[in-house]
Amino acid sequence: MDIRGMGYAIIGSADMARWRRFGVDMLGLMPIEGENDTLYLKMDERHFRYAIVPHGSEAYLATGWELPTKAAFDEAESELKARGIEYSHGSAEEVALRKVQQFLRVSDPAGNRHELFWGAISDHEPCISPIGVSGFVTGALGMGHVVLNAPAAFDATDEFLTQVLGFALSDLVNFNMGPDVPPVRIRFYHCNNPRQHSVAIVEMPNPAGADHVLVEVKSFDDVGRGLYRAEDMKIPLQVTLGKHINDQMVSFYMYSPTGFTVEYGHGGRQIEDWSQEPVFEATRGSLWGHRFVAPPQAPEA
Ligand SMILES: [Fe+2]
Repeated sequence: MDIRGMGYAIIGSADMARWRRFGVDMLGLMPIEGENDTLYLKMDERHFRYAIVPHGSEAYLATGWELPTKAAFDEAESELKARGIEYSHGSAEEVALRKVQQFLRVSDPAGNRHELFWGAISDHEPCISPIGVSGFVTGALGMGHVVLNAPAAFDATDEFLTQVLGFALSDLVNFNMGPDVPPVRIRFYHCNNPRQHSVAIVEMPNPAGADHVLVEVKSFDDVGRGLYRAEDMKIPLQVTLGKHINDQMVSFYMYSPTGFTVEYGHGGRQIEDWSQEPVFEATRGSLWGHRFVAPPQAPEA
């Protein structure tokens, strides 16, 4: 499949006001009101990148992956059909919420929901951050990346991402968790864009339905200001400021109202020629920093 990038994320929340405060006042995204109390969060000229929908509980619901054309979409559907993989088309109402021409949904073996779409619909108004974030790194790189959980069926999920969805392995980490337990595996994958990884899977559970998403801002000052906004807003950090080995992102992680974290960073590496990039395994995640913080009793934002 010819996936070009992460197009959108759908998040269900039982506390829309809390998400609005987090998305707008913390992340600096631009709110757009949608039908049925949907809160769209805008990062660029797309109508939205995050759709927060009222939901009975907190849940990361789905990741939208962008295909460039209807032909690529049809081909993706044919591939699923040929492999006997269950999928379904979005209803007219669901398509309208996502502001695309068409999408279909499919689950990976770990139960993460993926949506394949083509033809984003937008008025192409610019994103003006209400709190003055200078901008977000999106465009041809997609909106960022998502790290999904695969506590079971890790190998089958790896196979699904690479053999079915067409992602390619960028790098891997086997986190040493101590002498008596097996390492926690993490694998990072790229699609057809220069972002070092658009999706990753980690071999541990998360009741929120995802581990984290990346919001990449346009300057280091935006990261620094974000770090101190989080402190002022008493939004708990999961991981302190640090620099990743694989994508060289300088970032910190904070808890979203839904319970997965948001990585807020800048400086992500872009790879124009993947043929020159051998897969590698790093024995740690970061060059410096990124220290884990004791989790809060209940994530608050
Ligand atoms: Fe990340």
